[in-house]
Amino acid sequence: MIQTISRCSVKRTYRQFCTSEVCWKKSNVPVSKIINGRLSAIETRKRTKKQVKEFQEVAGRAPGLAVILVGDRPDSAAYVMSKTKTCAKLGMPSFQYNFPETVRETELLSTLDYLNHAPNIDGILVQLPLPKQLDEDRIIQYVTPSKDVDGLSLTNVGALTHYGDAVLKACTPAGCVQLLDSALDGELSGKHAVVLGRSDIVGKPMASLLLARHCTVTTCHSRTKNLQQHLKMADIVVAALGKPEFVKGEWLKPGCIVIDVGINKVPVSADVDPLSKKVDDWKLVGDCDFESCGAVASRITPVPGGVGPMTIAMLLQNTVNSAWARYKKSTEEAAEPDALLR
Ligand code: GUN
Repeated sequence: MIQTISRCSVKRTYRQFCTSEVCWKKSNVPVSKIINGRLSAIETRKRTKKQVKEFQEVAGRAPGLAVILVGDRPDSAAYVMSKTKTCAKLGMPSFQYNFPETVRETELLSTLDYLNHAPNIDGILVQLPLPKQLDEDRIIQYVTPSKDVDGLSLTNVGALTHYGDAVLKACTPAGCVQLLDSALDGELSGKHAVVLGRSDIVGKPMASLLLARHCTVTTCHSRTKNLQQHLKMADIVVAALGKPEFVKGEWLKPGCIVIDVGINKVPVSADVDPLSKKVDDWKLVGDCDFESCGAVASRITPVPGGVGPMTIAMLLQNTVNSAWARYKKSTEEAAEPDALLR
């Protein structure tokens, strides 16, 4: 069941990253405006690595992450590869479960049953999207909330919405808040934030986190009218709608901060064959037109090298948080054996 993903998909992605990165370095957007997600991710990983060591000393094992990958989408395979490689760098064991596109739901649920109860597993991630024939919501909700490192279970979503925080919160929005904190020196309070997109994994938790930081939050989506009017009032724009280079600079309020969550693969020119497998025919772009948005915004995240690296860093931080929370609960229960009866 555990397989290694072919190297070529990772190489291809890496080369695409390099090509696009040269593009943003060659753009007219001054480097001083760039919010460098790679640097923030390095800092976060350093902190997490220290916490992994501390946990290992106390618990006698390192926090463990299980990743479930269904099908053979090259983008999902590349993301999973990055996640497991980063685990290895931080001294955390990771366990990858690969299933064919045609896997039956019952097989996935019985694997989740095993992982939900496995004492050495602190985090479980089901790589999304899942093939259409599977009930994605049912599978996601089957992950026990204490190991739900994607922050998608109703318990974790509820805690985030109700308390404004959760032990396990969605990784991408948590990474975005960290980038905003670095760009704004922690001064988020009172800012008007416009979130583009209402997905469970980015848009909705992003809005909850910004609200908890005392922003005025507007969530826009495919049915929103007068989108440009909303954007013109935004001090902070978080774009997560999955439309390549959709947001234009002239729609933005001068001096705003742009956090671009989109990762879209597009041809480098109009004459590229849509079926081309040539690496150099493709590049990665965000949901914002980098050049025009970068001219108007005071700070902007590039794609790649912005939000992406932070998502993985936050995933591993969540796994450590989960490990500590589970360890503390188990030691408390051991000290009070009748606690379970209450
Ligand atoms: N697919 C794309 N991003 C994510 C993510 O953050 N978590 C999961 N589980 N799948 C994804």
